[in-house]
Amino acid sequence: MRTPRLAHLILLLALVASGAAAQDGPLRMVLNVDAPGPTLNRHLYGHFAEHLGNDIYGGFWVRGADGEWGLNQDVIDALKELNPPNVRWPGGCFADYYHWRDGVGPADERPSVVNTIWGGVTEDNSFGTHEFMALVDALDTEPFVVGNVGSGTVEEMADWWEYFNHPGGSPMSDLRAENGREEPWNVRFWGVGNESWGCGGEMTPEYYSDLYKRFQTFLRPFGDTRAFRVATGPNVDMYDWTETVMREAGRFIDGLDMHYYTYTGTWWDKGRATDFTEAEWLEALDRAMRMDELITRHSAIMDRYDPGNRVWLIVGEWGTWHQVEEGTEPGFLYQQNALRDALVASVTLDIFASHAERVRMANIAQTVNVLQAMILTDGERLVRTPTFHVFEMYKVHQDAQALPLVLDRGTYTHGDESIPALSASASRAADGAVHVSMTNMDPNAPRTVTTSVRGGAFSAVSGRVLTADAMTAHNTFDAPDAVAPAPFDAPRLDGETLTVTLPPKSVVTLRLE
Ligand code: AHR
Repeated sequence: MRTPRLAHLILLLALVASGAAAQDGPLRMVLNVDAPGPTLNRHLYGHFAEHLGNDIYGGFWVRGADGEWGLNQDVIDALKELNPPNVRWPGGCFADYYHWRDGVGPADERPSVVNTIWGGVTEDNSFGTHEFMALVDALDTEPFVVGNVGSGTVEEMADWWEYFNHPGGSPMSDLRAENGREEPWNVRFWGVGNESWGCGGEMTPEYYSDLYKRFQTFLRPFGDTRAFRVATGPNVDMYDWTETVMREAGRFIDGLDMHYYTYTGTWWDKGRATDFTEAEWLEALDRAMRMDELITRHSAIMDRYDPGNRVWLIVGEWGTWHQVEEGTEPGFLYQQNALRDALVASVTLDIFASHAERVRMANIAQTVNVLQAMILTDGERLVRTPTFHVFEMYKVHQDAQALPLVLDRGTYTHGDESIPALSASASRAADGAVHVSMTNMDPNAPRTVTTSVRGGAFSAVSGRVLTADAMTAHNTFDAPDAVAPAPFDAPRLDGETLTVTLPPKSVVTLRLE
């Protein structure tokens, strides 16, 4: 008799010591199915590919056995699983160094250039405008092109716009035809510079506003194609930038491109991607959730100049930025991607959903082999990262109607620090199904969530879960599925009550029909 009691006591003590005991009782959520909010624009789940490290060269664009460059079909096939809505290109900082004429015409006549901003590598410009548009076609996605303001001219940018979009019979459309493409591409998303407060030219907001107005004037409509003009937005909390640019140029802007990255430690001494403590787990998620405050405050400024929400707040660069992997070129920004990154992605996408009236596009940085990548490659081998899986699980929200949630987020505590335990978002798809995504940020304890589903009748619930045994779990070329979604049969639907117990450190997406 004594032994089992002792065993129970030891188990209880062990659970408490490991922090595995639940810190909250069941959490309550109310989901109003019959009061849909704004559309979750599919562009919120967008991508970004820069001439940086092995994102383009060595990622999307590889040499075949014959030594010729070509698109990497394996990368394309994998990315298509995400329904990628857009790809931002060619940068990033590189955009303000890029001269598009270097990248058109016969490949063997294109000049080589040195990528002075990222690793000092020489690139042969074999990947240029036509190759990017071939990639866009292959991915069945939409291009978001960023023009060069920092080191380019108005004429150069206007010519590139004309090259993409003039229907025919102009100098640039003739050149396009000479290079093998008669039809215009009808590109609409157009960035007027990138990070013009920094690598794009170290400008003041006043100076940039004037320059922006000048450059955008020459993006003339061609046929039905009008430029959706994206201005450089603030870095993190540069509220003065938003204020000045909206005041001076707001009426000429269609999208304002804010950037915010999540890192642990300091900018100069960042934490690592797969070797971190629980304190750093919490720190990363806490910093990721700062996105909510940033969007709220920048939106409040935009509201004053644009009360009708005409101008999109775009989060054109976001995601985790860790120390580069040991032995890799620092300028290539190559990092692994753990379960923690997946949760940074899910809570960030939930934040975007809660601001969907103003935030209508976002681009995680970046797509292949750079920063918080979807895919890592090594020669012919390819790994889908945990972040890839979140994007795949969240694709059901693309262009769906956001559903309002009232959520008791609970608390996850480690040491002296506490953050909410739970994050969630929900939407109703065109076929009437409701999708609910939930994240339990607590790496130690499960959380039970009891949801009142109001205003809809559902008879079935199914779902998938992304989790792993360790916070630092990640996929490698030898173990590519260490972190992968699995069927989740834990949810119970009883009339209007949905009960689900989320495992520690997990992301779940449920479908109610
Ligand atoms: O994504 C990497 C870099 O981060 C981009 O080139 C730049 O825009 C930002 O600072």
